Amino acid sequence: MMDWSDRHCRYFWRLLTRNTLLYTEMVTTGAVLHGDAPRFLNFNKEEHPVALQLGGSIPSDLAECARMAEDWGYDEVNLNCGCPSDRVQVGKIGAVLMAEPELVAECVAAMRQACSIPVTVKHRIGIDEQDDYQDMCRFVEKVASAGCSTFIVHARKAWLKGLSPKENREVPPLKYENVVRLKQQFPHLTIIINGGITSLEQSKILLQDLDGVMIGREAYNNPYFLAQVDSEIYGDEHPLASRKEVLEKFTDYCQKEIEKGNRLHHMSRHMLGLFHGEYGARIFRRYITEHANKPDATAQILLDAYSFCERA
Ligand SMILES: Cc1cc2nc3c(=O)[nH]c(=O)nc-3n(C[C@H](O)[C@H](O)[C@H](O)COP(=O)(O)O)c2cc1C
Repeated sequence: MMDWSDRHCRYFWRLLTRNTLLYTEMVTTGAVLHGDAPRFLNFNKEEHPVALQLGGSIPSDLAECARMAEDWGYDEVNLNCGCPSDRVQVGKIGAVLMAEPELVAECVAAMRQACSIPVTVKHRIGIDEQDDYQDMCRFVEKVASAGCSTFIVHARKAWLKGLSPKENREVPPLKYENVVRLKQQFPHLTIIINGGITSLEQSKILLQDLDGVMIGREAYNNPYFLAQVDSEIYGDEHPLASRKEVLEKFTDYCQKEIEKGNRLHHMSRHMLGLFHGEYGARIFRRYITEHANKPDATAQILLDAYSFCERA
């Protein structure tokens, strides 16, 4: 998620769950090929398994970026066909590509040739007036014929004109039934559902019909629910980390990053929701928000915030 799931955020999530696959923010091929590639591609080794999400539509550029993703050590490379932002539409990036299944198939074929890690696609159930179940099937069938076998489907369509990206995550209704039908029609494909999933109970129900669940906003706003994913979903009996343990480990990470020249605020903003739903959550958030962006802020601020929260 742009501006959210950066490497600091993913490190934080990894303290909560060992098995969940994590995704980067979308990075455009232009940024990787003509910008500061290490800035966009570097990640902490603790983040594995981690997938790089690319935005682009020029097969040769995507192929080069897929090769780089593998060299950098990513476990998967994903092509974004779901972002409705008009800023990326002009560069033929994101959800506009759902109107061009042949081009997406070419992109996927080029990426697959260039690397040996899995190439996956994230898309919507439709765009604009092209939102029939059959339209989505044609897209998936064509892209699958180029060798993509995993599709992550955001179960709402996107309006390419008139709605902001935020509205495009809320206004078009969720149609989980279209994603379930897709899996029934293409049982050999791995179909992962996304959109509006906020609990493990809901995830387990969806997993009866589908191969996976992708969770976005809930993981960011209420991250501690991820602590139960390993045991509840993956059957991993590794002991559950407490909120306090997670906080202490992340504090160590933040202090090391500060010593490398990073600002506390850039890391701490991702863990403001750690005490979501608990007494003291608001005090915890407020303390960090008020203190972490001071130029000389140290990671001790996170421990201080916890002390206030605990007293509450
Ligand atoms: C702040 C923000 C940034 C996002 N950036 C991306 C992105 O870079 N790539 C992407 O595929 N989806 C992006 N999304 C969409 C989410 O991946 C997801 O599809 C959407 O939020 C619906 O899932 P959810 O209800 O679990 O959040 C973003 C969502 C948010 C809230």
